[in-house]
Amino acid sequence: MNILLLGSGGREHAMAYKIAQSTLCERLYIAPGNAGTESCGTNVNMDPCDFAQVGGFVLKHGIQMVVVGPEAPLVAGIADYFAETPGLSGVMVIGPGKTGARLEGSKDFAKDFMARHNIPTATYRTVTAETLDDGIAYLHTLQAPYVLKADGLAAGKGVLIVDTLEEAERELREMLVEAKFGKASEKVVIEQYLSGVELSVFVLTDGKHYHILPTAKDYKRIGDGDTGLNTGGMGSISPVHFADKAFMRKVEDRIVVPTVKGLVQDHISYKGFIFVGLMAVPCDDGYDPYVIEYNVRMGDPETESVFPRIESDVVDLFTHVWNGDLHRTTLVVSRNAAACVMMVAKGYPGSYKKGHVIHGLGEDEAPKDSIVFHAGTTRNEKGEVVTNGGRVICVTSLAESMPSALLRTYQNLENITWEGRTYRRDIGQDLLKMMM
Ligand code: AMP
Ligand code: GLY
Repeated sequence: MNILLLGSGGREHAMAYKIAQSTLCERLYIAPGNAGTESCGTNVNMDPCDFAQVGGFVLKHGIQMVVVGPEAPLVAGIADYFAETPGLSGVMVIGPGKTGARLEGSKDFAKDFMARHNIPTATYRTVTAETLDDGIAYLHTLQAPYVLKADGLAAGKGVLIVDTLEEAERELREMLVEAKFGKASEKVVIEQYLSGVELSVFVLTDGKHYHILPTAKDYKRIGDGDTGLNTGGMGSISPVHFADKAFMRKVEDRIVVPTVKGLVQDHISYKGFIFVGLMAVPCDDGYDPYVIEYNVRMGDPETESVFPRIESDVVDLFTHVWNGDLHRTTLVVSRNAAACVMMVAKGYPGSYKKGHVIHGLGEDEAPKDSIVFHAGTTRNEKGEVVTNGGRVICVTSLAESMPSALLRTYQNLENITWEGRTYRRDIGQDLLKMMM
């Protein structure tokens, strides 16, 4: 079949890499893609949020399946657009409709969903400018540090964790009254702070049945030792060793099953990925899982370590997602560990330059025992691969153990260079220490 994948990051390159391996895939188009996705299919210069253009392309090129990488087109309702448009309603869209996408698009909606379906999460209160005083009173009932979340999408910046009550009150006012995050902070979720270890769990669901994909951990801060500013993600590893059978049983029983059942009960049709951001909170028998957030897509850069571990044909899985019989498939996962390190532009996540020529990607130079995924890359007028974003290229290695996977990634990324490229040197080290 012909497949269109929407998006342009490292996540989409990793998805394109797996989709292109499928015997069911005849032609793969990626819109808009990057210089790396060219090796998996044909890039199409198209905005994933321009539904009319996407729909037109799908009709013209006989596309049977659309896989949606990022959240923006989902939150804007691409699945509903296809379902409601004559000629497009039979196209398999992998990604939830607008209502399901609110699990990511509105923190208040997600918290309400969790409360209604008894899914463990931090206790919370949602407030608006009218109920600011209630919010301040609620803050007084909590212990430091204080967690404030803008309800809407705020480009990953809408969560504040502050140490003092004064700061929390000031920030709450700025969010609600001075629209610190614009419309996104018209509502604010105030939350209990959870202390533990974070990890990401991914679920692929047809709305009724599900597979739990490999676990992963991403590294969000720019600096070694989790210091400095937040980024889109500086690396990831999969699996997460402490997410053992006992812990994953709790995740499945307390979170995955009630989430999927909750969608059914709430009449939310959902065909796609659910990314559950979890806090593993230490308890008597190990860790208890609490949901920090839902996303309605795969994670980036988690996909770059999770997807290479999936041995099943992903297009076959997606087809069963669409048909509602995912239980007829098995998910086969490699026993190997995966380690992904993201190389970024100098200055990122602040301002940075684009257009630097990237060296070390030629056929005879590229590493043979790692996978190179492009994130922010493009080609210049000379046809050279150049930087085109803050997060530029990542290297993923699979190996029998996490230390070997990390070692291979760090050896192989040395040869891929451009002016000012930097990366974190400690990906996975925190978990290796925990394992000792
Ligand atoms: P979110 O955008 O909801 O994922 O939040 C961004 C980050 O803030 C998370 O990845 C956590 O590191 C942190 N965070 C969010 N909520 C909490 C919480 N209730 N307790 C502790 N940390 C939190
Ligand atoms: N890695 C976190 C995210 O994709 O949101």
